[in-house]
Amino acid sequence: MGSASRVAGIDAMAFHGTHCYLEMADLATARGVDPDKYIHGLGQRQMAVATPCEDTVTMATVAAHRALDRFDIDPGEIGTLIVGTETGVDHSKPVAVYVHDMLGLAPNCRTFETKHACYGAMAGLTSAMDWISAGRARGRKALIIASDIARYGLNTPGEPTQGAGAVAMVVSERPRLLELDPTSFGDYTRQVMDFWRPLYSKYAFADGHYSIDCYLDAFSGAWRDACENSGTWEPLRLDNIDACFYHVPFTKMARKAHHRHCETEWGISVAKENEAKMTEINASYERQVAPWLELNSIVGNIYTGSLFLCLMDYLRKAHPAGGQRLSMFSYGSGCGAAFGTGVVVANAARYADHIDPATHLAQRRRLDIDRYEQLITASETADHNEAPYPDPADWDLGQGLYYVGTRDHIRQYTGSAADTP
Ligand code: CAA
Repeated sequence: MGSASRVAGIDAMAFHGTHCYLEMADLATARGVDPDKYIHGLGQRQMAVATPCEDTVTMATVAAHRALDRFDIDPGEIGTLIVGTETGVDHSKPVAVYVHDMLGLAPNCRTFETKHACYGAMAGLTSAMDWISAGRARGRKALIIASDIARYGLNTPGEPTQGAGAVAMVVSERPRLLELDPTSFGDYTRQVMDFWRPLYSKYAFADGHYSIDCYLDAFSGAWRDACENSGTWEPLRLDNIDACFYHVPFTKMARKAHHRHCETEWGISVAKENEAKMTEINASYERQVAPWLELNSIVGNIYTGSLFLCLMDYLRKAHPAGGQRLSMFSYGSGCGAAFGTGVVVANAARYADHIDPATHLAQRRRLDIDRYEQLITASETADHNEAPYPDPADWDLGQGLYYVGTRDHIRQYTGSAADTP
């Protein structure tokens, strides 16, 4: 019988985004909007844009390859692969099985895809934690990948909250980065129509302002459940947490979430007029949340990976000594949510450079608005089973792993993850 108290946590992490991005100021100007609305009102500076040759499979595979390579993990050690995505490439076949093949994972690796809007990867992470804790892993590791392309369409209210990218995480019994605390996790589910994407649509539908309310209510629900699960809310108190990470569709949302976090813990609602309490909330936000939103502000919404981009930003910049408790809140519209905490492992700071995606992000190419609009339009038909097939050369992409069209109803890929910058 396996021990029920095995430690599980995040052992490796890596990000892969897109080759192109848009400046939010350019988008605002093109839409006749004051740039301050996007940059300060929503808190976004740049937005990653996927070409028709970059899809959920290519981004997931490259991110995972990078995590395994940089943290020196043999693909044969992976016993579970879960890809969390809202942007699946097939109604039946999971993204995960393409990734399994491209990474050369073992045939006895349990492989599947999870979908619950932006909550899919957190569902994968907690499943991996349970798989290890239950003694099912037999010393193997789990690979959890969040990969998404957030698209609301041209000239929509959601347009400035798009983005694309993948975060890969390896979960193991001997984590080098963050030990997850299963007693601190809580869950929340409620049927709401705040954001959804029908089978016939490439673009999400959102009731934007309502979705913000649903998100905040889900925070309170998941946080309360976490306190009940842990039997005491003492370890979960903000005073005992070094940094708070939230799902980040746009960085201003993290400010709203943190406000709700303080209110929920204090058991009161705080109006803007309450200067003393607002000062306390703002100071806590500046210390525990704002410093770790840099990657989100230049990548945009990557749906299920957004929360984990904050964790990566923290691990690459904070240089923690170990022992710091971090909180994570994942929200998936529709809706499902989870709140939980983990504790930074001693020497995690040693891996800051392995995690840091700065070099990759610095190589991105800036799009002008015409090219951005062409690219979005071309993506609408990129997976039709007919020519014209997407061609990496049309989008000035160099070497790398790319999607190159669907022939005989089968998706085609070219290149390899190892060659992708
Ligand atoms: N200068 C500075 N700030 C300005 C400004 C200016 N000139 N003009 C407006 N602002 C501020 C506003 O005051 C507002 O700030 P507060 O929220 O703090 O009041 C902010 O900019 C946004 O302004 P609006 O609310 O007027 O913006 P909007 O109506 O155009 O829509 C949105 C914003 C609802 C987020 C929209 O972009 C949207 O629908 N996005 C998609 C849905 C979404 O992201 N929902 C988030 C919760 S659901 C979720 O998290 C799951 C997921 O990933 C989708």
